[in-house]
Amino acid sequence: MFNKIWKNKEGESSSPLVYAKEDILQHPIPKHVAIIMDGNGRWAKKRALPRAAGHYEGMQVVRKITRFANELGIKILSLYAFSTENWKRPKSEVEYLMKLPEQFLTTFLPELIEENVNVRVIGNTEQLPEHTRRAVEKAINETKDNTGLILNFALNYGSRAEITYAVQQIAKDIQNGRLSPEQITEELVSSYLMTKDLMDPDLLIRTSGEIRLSNFMLWQLAYTEFWFTDVLWPDFTEQHLLEAIAAFQKRNRRFGGV
Ligand code: FPP
Repeated sequence: MFNKIWKNKEGESSSPLVYAKEDILQHPIPKHVAIIMDGNGRWAKKRALPRAAGHYEGMQVVRKITRFANELGIKILSLYAFSTENWKRPKSEVEYLMKLPEQFLTTFLPELIEENVNVRVIGNTEQLPEHTRRAVEKAINETKDNTGLILNFALNYGSRAEITYAVQQIAKDIQNGRLSPEQITEELVSSYLMTKDLMDPDLLIRTSGEIRLSNFMLWQLAYTEFWFTDVLWPDFTEQHLLEAIAAFQKRNRRFGGV
């Protein structure tokens, strides 16, 4: 199905296959790809570097993969950048992680604008430090009319908190007479979630060998294809994304039908 070329260049990934972009583009591309970017800390530890070095490298990979996803014609790229549970990390690491969106968006905003990328954020941004929130709002505002890839950062995001909040809002709307219980459908619930303007992901990728969802888009991932890899996020390349899409293209999505 795909051109398979044996890699022999020193230092390349252990995967023997090279997927050609042209071949992948012959078949349907997932419209919405969601990624749990994991393994920054382990990447740094393997090199005897501070964990922050792993996060910094992870940020460079975000840039590379965003650009490539756009090139492939992916419509939405959702990236789990900071979970509601990540506040439990040491204060210095949290502070560093909070600087990353600002650093990323400030450094790459001109490039994102040039590439027609539309930046969005899901998560409780009110709890973010002022400097992080300002950078995020600026990027959202300055890219709001862009029609290319939607780059959707999950920042201070937790799926259970999102669903809980949606239930509270639905209950309030019933209480104030705007809604009746009979009107509660799956579509209505979806419309109360932070992803209300986005289609559900077609493909979920998680790096670093962990096989769990860690409170990421629990409702939205109901029919999504999952692809797990041992590759640590800072080592993730365009080739790995093509590999994940190739696996997706071989799946038979039935959505519960036959
Ligand atoms: C998980 O790796 C990664 C994170 C909690 C942070 C993800 C952030 C980035 C990839 C940086 C880019 C962010 C933006 C906003 C551009 P881990 O630290 O849990 O790794 P470990 O499990 O190996 O310790």
